[in-house]
Amino acid sequence: MSATPTEAADAVDAGALADFPVGEIRTVTVGRMEVLVVQTAPGEFRAVSGVCPHKGARLAFGDLGGTMLPSGQGELCYAREHEVVRCPWHGYEFDLESGEMPFSDLSHKLRRFPVEVVDGRVTVARRPRQS
Ligand code: FES
Repeated sequence: MSATPTEAADAVDAGALADFPVGEIRTVTVGRMEVLVVQTAPGEFRAVSGVCPHKGARLAFGDLGGTMLPSGQGELCYAREHEVVRCPWHGYEFDLESGEMPFSDLSHKLRRFPVEVVDGRVTVARRPRQS
């Protein structure tokens, strides 16, 4: 893949904004790592490492969805559509915002990368967030 004018030393050009429909998984290579890029809502992007830390499945083949929120007795409250990726192998779920597994005692966590939209291009930082 050749560099584009928006690609900088500290970020990778992931593609045109129009190529990132809300609620669909796209991938970009950052160094040697596949990174998932998702527009979770209009103008809201998340980027996380694309290999499941449990046993190594490619999360690009997983499903996006939401999650159940704490709610009152007899209530079911589903929310956060497109913000949770489910691994295709064993079904563990990862929150794209935190990188964590919302319903597990396991400490597996995805690396999160800053995402920006610059001049109609989606860019992903080469370095993951530290926290
Ligand atoms: S490899 Fe992803 S949950 Fe097991």
